[in-house]
Amino acid sequence: MSVRDLKEFNTLEDFNFKDRAVLLRVDMNCPLDKKTLRILNDARIRSVVPTVRELIGKRAKVVVLAHQSRKGAWDFIGLEQHAALLSKSLNAPVTYVDDVIGAEAKGAISRMAPGDVLLLGNVRGLDCESVTADMRRHADAELVSELLPLFDYYVCDAFGASHRSQCSLVGFPARLPSASGRLMARELYALKTIFDKPRRPSVFILGGAKFGDVPYMIDRVLSNGSADTVIVTGLAGNAFLLARGVDIGAASSRVLADELTDENFRAARDVLGKYGQKVLLPVDVAVERGGGRVCVSTGDLPTAEPAIDIGDQSIEKFRKVILSSKTSFMSGPSGMFEKPGFEAGTKQLMTAMVESKGLSVLGGGHTAGAAERFDLADRVSYVSTGGGALEALLLRDPLPVIEALKHSRETFGPGH
Ligand code: 3PG
Repeated sequence: MSVRDLKEFNTLEDFNFKDRAVLLRVDMNCPLDKKTLRILNDARIRSVVPTVRELIGKRAKVVVLAHQSRKGAWDFIGLEQHAALLSKSLNAPVTYVDDVIGAEAKGAISRMAPGDVLLLGNVRGLDCESVTADMRRHADAELVSELLPLFDYYVCDAFGASHRSQCSLVGFPARLPSASGRLMARELYALKTIFDKPRRPSVFILGGAKFGDVPYMIDRVLSNGSADTVIVTGLAGNAFLLARGVDIGAASSRVLADELTDENFRAARDVLGKYGQKVLLPVDVAVERGGGRVCVSTGDLPTAEPAIDIGDQSIEKFRKVILSSKTSFMSGPSGMFEKPGFEAGTKQLMTAMVESKGLSVLGGGHTAGAAERFDLADRVSYVSTGGGALEALLLRDPLPVIEALKHSRETFGPGH
């Protein structure tokens, strides 16, 4: 993908934002501490700062729209903390109103001067935001109808939510000249470059706590040439061992629970049959025994304890593959890296990515969190803010937000 491809939709240089009101949708959905509800990692907030700063520099009135979790979940909260952290990273004031379409929000917007930044309340508090529908239907959603008269432009920088077809994400581009923000453009450019034109050999390391989509992702990346080899770790590694006929034991199988449907299991077996040695599985696993880390070779399984990391021989084997690669991509940790003694798999493979001197890319919230914990985030080539969006991109599913932005360019053109 080239910068020219990005011109299928508008970016910030396509409009004159001076003195105009801009509705900026971002993804500042952050991990929280369950007891205190404090934000644990503000990487997603920091990631949108360049766009906000650029819009302020262009003397726009910037109204930020964002979500945190979803209704009914324990981490569904207002965005006061997000406003304070955005203000800190921006080094400029950010006003917060705990309202989205009511009189308080509208009043605050009407009082704004060029260069001001206002953050509205958690948009997922609105019922219309829980509806998944296409952009045409969302163009008439309550949120869009209420806010539309107050804005000249819509900018979307919510890459992490770009796989969602919700009204705050796809409703406005149908009705307002719209552009992508800097983060969105950067993410698409970086990820499409490694997915579409990786330097070879290219290795993908897929792990994490979810297994369901992994067989399909492996099939995609190996069949379209994004990867030459896929290393499978984490819970997916256990599921694939099972699919290869290894008895991983009741404790490890139980953790896979709902994800291990007949269909997913069959998909894993098909992928192993189709790609053979291009799919590398752990040769040993690490379990907690006597309060410490014990590695057990797959030939000696099952164990009574669940496998919670890849073992040392697997680490050594996978490190060699990663060190000789020119592109490496990791999505999902290799084990329970938060648990002392069980960070080895994730940490050692990430370190090999850095040492390989090739292009190294990390994706997904947990992987990014692990990189920060191990002080490796600044040493890899790129850390994506996407989780589900990244998976959609890997699976080559169309991203609704990108489709909406393209439609907006076709409808309104650039250069207003
Ligand atoms: C994410 O964290 O992946 C995005 O913010 C989207 O959140 P969602 O999965 O709740 O839609």
